[in-house]
Amino acid sequence: MKLFLDTANLAEIQEGAKMGILDGVTTNPTLLSREPGDPMENLKAICRTVEGPVSAEVIATDVEGMLKEAHQLSKLAENIVVKLPTTTEGLKACKQLTSEGIKVNMTLVFSPTQALLVAKAGATFVSPFVGRLDDVSSDGMNVVAQIIDIYNNYGFETEVLVASVRHPMHVVDAALMGADICTMPFKVFKQLIKHPLTDVGLEKFISDWKAAQQ
Ligand code: G3P
Repeated sequence: MKLFLDTANLAEIQEGAKMGILDGVTTNPTLLSREPGDPMENLKAICRTVEGPVSAEVIATDVEGMLKEAHQLSKLAENIVVKLPTTTEGLKACKQLTSEGIKVNMTLVFSPTQALLVAKAGATFVSPFVGRLDDVSSDGMNVVAQIIDIYNNYGFETEVLVASVRHPMHVVDAALMGADICTMPFKVFKQLIKHPLTDVGLEKFISDWKAAQQ
């Protein structure tokens, strides 16, 4: 499973990239608006820092506006993926952009029916928001399982990108289900390596070794 960072913070992305296991980045207007400086320049810097795909979202809600922004975004760097909202207009824009060879990440997906249409429109990535479904007493990971089953039934090539991840168990469940990608905040990314028994065990190895030398 590929691991993406869900952030527009360059320092976090640089630190994640240094760990050697970062496969890509997803941003959204909320995340970009939290960072100082020009969002387009920030996106370019992110694209230079990470080797994999970097999702950048349009603001327009009509097809023409989406296509215009998508073309501007796709010129920023080779690894830009255009993120579109999963609406009727977004679906039309997705079909057009993928036919031009521009990679598209369909975002704000909350149901298997949305995911089915997104795959039929040729999206590169589908982004089900698991945390926000959990927030409204739905089972976000169950929606991911349904999407994976549907995609497997028909051999759709759209990659399932689990988003709105809030904790490491979302990552574990995504991996058990065979999701293609999981994107997460830097806090969750760092939590994946942590285990108290590793820290305690390491401390004991070092203190035993030092005691034997004396
Ligand atoms: O990738 C989508 C993500 O940014 C949404 O996360 O935590 O705002 O639901 P969240």
